[in-house]
Amino acid sequence: TTIPVITIDGPAGAGKGTIACMLADKLGWHMLDSGAIYRVAAVAALRHKINLQDETALAAMIPTLNIEFKNGEAWLDGDIITGEIRNETCASATSQIAALPAVRAALLELQRRFCQLPGLVADGRDMGTVVFPDATHKFYLTASAEIRAERRLKQLSQQGLSAKLCDLIQEINARDERDTNRPVAPLKPAADALVIDTSSLDQAEVFATVLHYIA
Ligand code: C5P
Repeated sequence: TTIPVITIDGPAGAGKGTIACMLADKLGWHMLDSGAIYRVAAVAALRHKINLQDETALAAMIPTLNIEFKNGEAWLDGDIITGEIRNETCASATSQIAALPAVRAALLELQRRFCQLPGLVADGRDMGTVVFPDATHKFYLTASAEIRAERRLKQLSQQGLSAKLCDLIQEINARDERDTNRPVAPLKPAADALVIDTSSLDQAEVFATVLHYIA
């Protein structure tokens, strides 16, 4: 039997995570937040004080890590690091190590292990292009950098954190540029993905579009 997979790719802040969770809940499927895997690997690199450009050392480190997601928390070698993986320092380190082919190769199998019955909803940058090229349905969510930064600002203020919109726009643009221009698994829609611009849509509208397409 082939296990059904739905992929949701796109840039930071396009709303992939929320839609992926809603969809996995509705279908009763497993969920892969591939960005969280890259983020945990980046935290490990920082902890081990490995240079973020040292591809060989990073790739050698990855198989030694115990990366787990359970009870809604991200775990690295027995420590909960859920909070740590969400800050902008980690996001920036993550997109640096994610540009390295050997790092991506080292994380490929771990990601594919999430593909289990009854099905998987996978969100990230290359779910439809590289990790699950045979996925049943593929989506690519996008929105302008300004809108994505505004959403991020709202999220932060809900967590009692503050930031400047212009800083967030700059960070998002820098990360997009790195993710889009890297030679391996760049951020781009799969040829067979449905592209949804979420700039003028709310969550419910995006979710309805996705459900309509799947049905
Ligand atoms: O999705 P999230 O913002 O958590 O991803 C953090 C970073 O991890 C991205 O900016 C990207 O560099 C990297 N990433 C990736 N491939 C994925 C998921 C995330 O390169 N499938």
